[in-house]
This record gives sequence, C-alpha cells and structure tokens, in this order.
Amino acid sequence: MIPQPEGIILTVKVLVVGNGGREHALIWRIAQSSHVKELYCAKGNAGIWKIAKRVDIDPSNITSLAEFALKRGIDFTVVGPEAPLVEGIVDEFEKRGLCIFGPTKKASKLEGSKAFAKAFMKKYGIPTADYKVFEDYQTAVKYIKNSSVPLVVKADGLAAGKGAVVCFSHEEAIKTLENFMIKGVLGSAGKRVVVEEYLEGEEASYIVMVNGEKYVPLPTSQDHKRLLDGDKGPNTGGMGAYSPTPIIDSYTEKRIRKEIIERALTGLKKEGIYFRGFLYAGLMITSEGPKVLEFNVRLGDPEAQPILMRIKGDFLKALTDFYEGKEINLEEDRSWAIDVVIASKGYPVNPEKGKVIKGLEEAEKLEKVIVFHAGTDIKGESIITSGGRVLNVCAYGDTLKEAKERVYSALSLIHFEGMHYRKDIGDKAFKYFD
Ligand code: AMP
Ligand code: GLY
Repeated sequence: MIPQPEGIILTVKVLVVGNGGREHALIWRIAQSSHVKELYCAKGNAGIWKIAKRVDIDPSNITSLAEFALKRGIDFTVVGPEAPLVEGIVDEFEKRGLCIFGPTKKASKLEGSKAFAKAFMKKYGIPTADYKVFEDYQTAVKYIKNSSVPLVVKADGLAAGKGAVVCFSHEEAIKTLENFMIKGVLGSAGKRVVVEEYLEGEEASYIVMVNGEKYVPLPTSQDHKRLLDGDKGPNTGGMGAYSPTPIIDSYTEKRIRKEIIERALTGLKKEGIYFRGFLYAGLMITSEGPKVLEFNVRLGDPEAQPILMRIKGDFLKALTDFYEGKEINLEEDRSWAIDVVIASKGYPVNPEKGKVIKGLEEAEKLEKVIVFHAGTDIKGESIITSGGRVLNVCAYGDTLKEAKERVYSALSLIHFEGMHYRKDIGDKAFKYFD
C-alpha cells in the first residue's frame, strides 16, 4: 500500500466512512501521518470537517461510496460503523479493485446476527452465556416463564446498542419480547430473539486488528453502556470509556487471546470466512474467567477514542502495512486516556437536536484535552447538536485520576441546552489501585 524507497515518502488518498466520535478519532490519528495525500470523510461531523474533506454521501449508501472512491482514486478506505459493513460495503469496494479495511458481508454476520454469533461461539468452544433462539413469540414466552430471572433478551439484528435488555422479572422479559417481536420497535432486527443466561462480573472491551490468521491486539478499554451513573438506566451506544483497563490483567489477557480471539480465528478459517478488519470482543470478566457478551466487527465507540489516543507512531502506516500482510508493531503510550460522552436530552430514545454548543474552544485549549465530535453540525457561525451522542470530551493523564480530573474540568466549560453526561466514568478501575 505504501511502498517506501529510502528517503522518499509516498502518500495515499484516504477515505473514512462514518459520522461519529470513533471516526473523528480515526481521522485525527490518520491526519498525523506523513503518508496522507488527501483525507476524505463520508459524511463526518463539524469536528471532522476541520481536518478532512466532506463527502456528502451517507455511510449507508454503499454503492455511491464505492463509485466515489473509484472516481476520486481513493487508495485506502477505513470503515467506522457496523451498518455499512453488514450491508456489504467491503464486497462493493473489492468488486471494483479498491483497498478497504473491514470485514466482508459474510464475516460481518458475527455482529449482524446474534443467533449466528452464538452458534459460532458454541461450535468453537468460545466461552459465552447459555442461550436459546426464538422466532415464535408464544414459544419464547413459555420458555421465559419456566426460566429463572435475571435473564437477557436480545434482538438478533443490529440495534445500535439498544437491542439487549437485562430483565430482572418475568414481566419485564415478556414485555421486552412483545416490544421486539410483536410491536416491532426495532423493525426486522427484533423479529428473531436470543434469550440468554445473565452473567455476573465486570465488562471490558478487547479489540484486535485481524488479517486472516494474523492478529494484533489494541490497548484494552472499558465502556460504560448504561445511560446513568452507577450503571443505571437503559443501555446506550456507550456513555464513556477509558484505556487501559486494569480489569484485564496480563493473566486474563492471555486467556482472552487463547480462549476467545484465537478460537474465533480458527473458527472463521474452518468456516471458510476470510476476516480482515477490527474484531471487538465485548466481555464479561466473570469468576470463571472472560466470557463473550457480543462480537463486533469494527472499533467500539467510545472505546476507539481513548485507544487511538494511546497508540504511538504512524497509525495509517500501521494499518496499510497490516492490510498488506506485513508484520507491525503497535506501541502503547504509557499514559491513561479517558472519554466522557455528552448526550442530548432524550437520548437514547428521542434525542433533541439543533441546540447551539458553547465553550468548545475554551475546553480544547486545556492541556492534554481533546474534544472529538459525534452528533454535531454547522449552522451559520455556530456548531449545533444533530444527534443523541454529541461530543466526546477526552483527556490524557499520568494516572487515571489525573485524566479524570482534567476531563471533568473541560466538561464544565461546555454547554448546550439539555446536555447530560455521566460523572462516574473510570470509577470502577479505582478499586484496583492502592
Ligand atoms: P450486547 O449488545 O450483547 O453487548 O449487550 C449490551 C449490554 O447488555 C452489555 O454491554 C451488558 O451490559 C448487557 N448484557 C448483555 N448480555 C448480558 C449477559 N448475558 N449477562 C449480563 N449482562 C449482559
Ligand atoms: N461501545 C460499544 C460499541 O461500540 O458497540
């Protein structure tokens, strides 16, 4: 991808697909590479448009994106969100001979269908919760009435982080089934459901870059999926993350690699599925060891933000070399990084939009603080909100405590009507320190 005869730096045209904080962080990192000639984003947000050229094609419009890449001579494309991957964006690009980092439609089923992912895990001995799949509402109700609670009801298809409900009563579980299977609140994604055993423990995210049988781990991280402090309220796409996480110690990491990542790669090979891209294991670290809650076929959002903040060196070069099958060495920064998400009023159900955001420049001026945009847009001279998760306020620190103090000082400078954020991001890690 980037041949480098001595003394000459060759450059490439790069396209990033996606609109969120994860894509802003990717673009921020790629823009620092000496190998970038031109950098594009489809569609991006107000923060991204400061560093990448705006491409007015929706990430879901995969044929138009492939046509654009061909016409513009894009050398390398990186995909952020799951929806275009599950729809087959990689197949569309590869059909046209374009280089794109992400798994094919077939490989993306690991995220696109929970029933497929669970059957895959069972077949290849990957530790996960016991489960049953249902396509008929009455059969599912009967099963739930005969099971003990808590249990977890999950929509089979993509639901932007809102398709899993931990139910503490039979009534709640049946209500969730009704919402998914009868009322169709998640459309076709909820017509088939997975009902699974409730796992106790602490959650963590383990993401690796995969190219066939080769894989390279990224720094560890922990997300905060619930809307409110103390892990209360509904599940969201993620309200904040930090990296690294002490919940994954070196012993646990060895187990994750051996029992989860390597078994998954062996399984994919046996199934004849070539996987190239990011593979994300959402984990519960239980008393019996790490178990998989879900596989995603992309970087996590917000996990990508602190992870990318801590990877040293030229990330674009690492990505393109890895894409080509070369050995790469990703070095981790020794600092801690934290990301606190600011969300709009009404998120995750019905977020307000169009509110003017104030104080961004003041916050960004603070030392070791970075603000990655998510749901933002430009209106006249102002930056306004345009989605549920609006901003990712991030900071570095020599300790997690220092990073946390810095991020919350930055947060106090930012304001828009109805904004809210969690005050306890990172707190679960503190019990591991003296
Ligand atoms: P998922 O989309 O499968 O990752 O589920 C979203 C969230 O629901 C997870 O991050 C957990 O907080 C929770 N969850 C999912 N499955 C389970 C389970 N089997 N036991 C306990 N909590 C779960
Ligand atoms: N932060 C969770 C996810 O990206 O799925």
